[in-house]
Amino acid sequence: MIKNKKILIVGAGGFIGGHLVKRLLDSGNSIIAADIKPKEYWFQDYGNVENHYSMDMKEINNCRKVTKKIDYVFNMACNMGGMGFIENNKAECMQSVLINTNLLIACKEDDIKKYFFSSSACAYNKSKQQDVFVDGLKEDDAYPANPEDGYGWEKLFSERMCRHFMEDYGIEVRIARYHNIYGPYGTYDGGREKAPAALCRKVIGAKKNNDNKIEVWGDGKQTRTFLYIDDCIEGTLRLFESDYSEPVNIGSDEQVSINQMIDIIEDISEIKKLERIYQLDKPKGVRGRSSNNDLVKKVLNWSYKIKLKDGLTKTYDWINNETSKKGTNINRFTKS
Ligand code: GDD
Repeated sequence: MIKNKKILIVGAGGFIGGHLVKRLLDSGNSIIAADIKPKEYWFQDYGNVENHYSMDMKEINNCRKVTKKIDYVFNMACNMGGMGFIENNKAECMQSVLINTNLLIACKEDDIKKYFFSSSACAYNKSKQQDVFVDGLKEDDAYPANPEDGYGWEKLFSERMCRHFMEDYGIEVRIARYHNIYGPYGTYDGGREKAPAALCRKVIGAKKNNDNKIEVWGDGKQTRTFLYIDDCIEGTLRLFESDYSEPVNIGSDEQVSINQMIDIIEDISEIKKLERIYQLDKPKGVRGRSSNNDLVKKVLNWSYKIKLKDGLTKTYDWINNETSKKGTNINRFTKS
């Protein structure tokens, strides 16, 4: 386990970044944390950390301010969200290329030895994701390149930028392709939420408001694999410490349709079956996507632990608690 290191985490105010700060702090490291969000919008904010609020890492001079005398850098920063966000904000998503590029340049100038890039399952070729219940995506399936428009192109390009910084300048890189990470302290409303949090929120809203229906984007038959945040952090750190420098899936292989996930959430909430209003005009993304975990098992000798029902239970309880603080009349028919 990484210990006694000075670690820069960019995107530390976000969902995965915040969990990573906590884990690396707890294991005895000194953390420098930066995020474009102002203090009040950080998802988690720890006192014994050198925090840089409202710091836009698309600016190279900001990158240069925080890469001095650092052992390791984790780039968890990008402008992203669930399908509702990435399908409607392609130009914004692509600008995250500036974060990775400028950060790598600053890391090269400051002779950083090891760099982590958080990539995404959106980097995979869309033609391999056109059916429900597809085979899991293997790392080779990213090429020939045909990723998710906007966001996926940025991820694929930035992965390649990492590879060439390693080849040309000797910075060790580690790259994870995350498959829909969910859990407490994630976005659950406002437009950037992904399906697990959005659907927990909708079921909670129906229960609190005595509604008997929820809105579902698409026909509910589309499939995904979802990974709980604790497994994501564990996989990330194991990958970082490995000697494998090509992209690796960090995901679960428990493939479910959106309808099956709603069944699970309804069980957790102990609500009677809700009528599902399928909204076919909402952002749907690919028809079927799941993670093949052969490579991660081989190179890390590791597999995720937390079953979808257990992870959703923790997520549901957290969102239930958060929304209770804000009053009961939430999201009758949701804005996302
Ligand atoms: N967000 C959301 N909200 N999705 C819903 C909802 C809802 O209320 N109801 C049904 N869905 C459906 C979407 O239409 C989509 O088909 C599926 O649930 C999954 O949606 P998301 O969780 O938003 O996104 P994704 O799995 O297509 O992609 C996400 O994960 C990728 C990594 O695997 C995104 O966050 C990407 O940015 C990320 O790279």
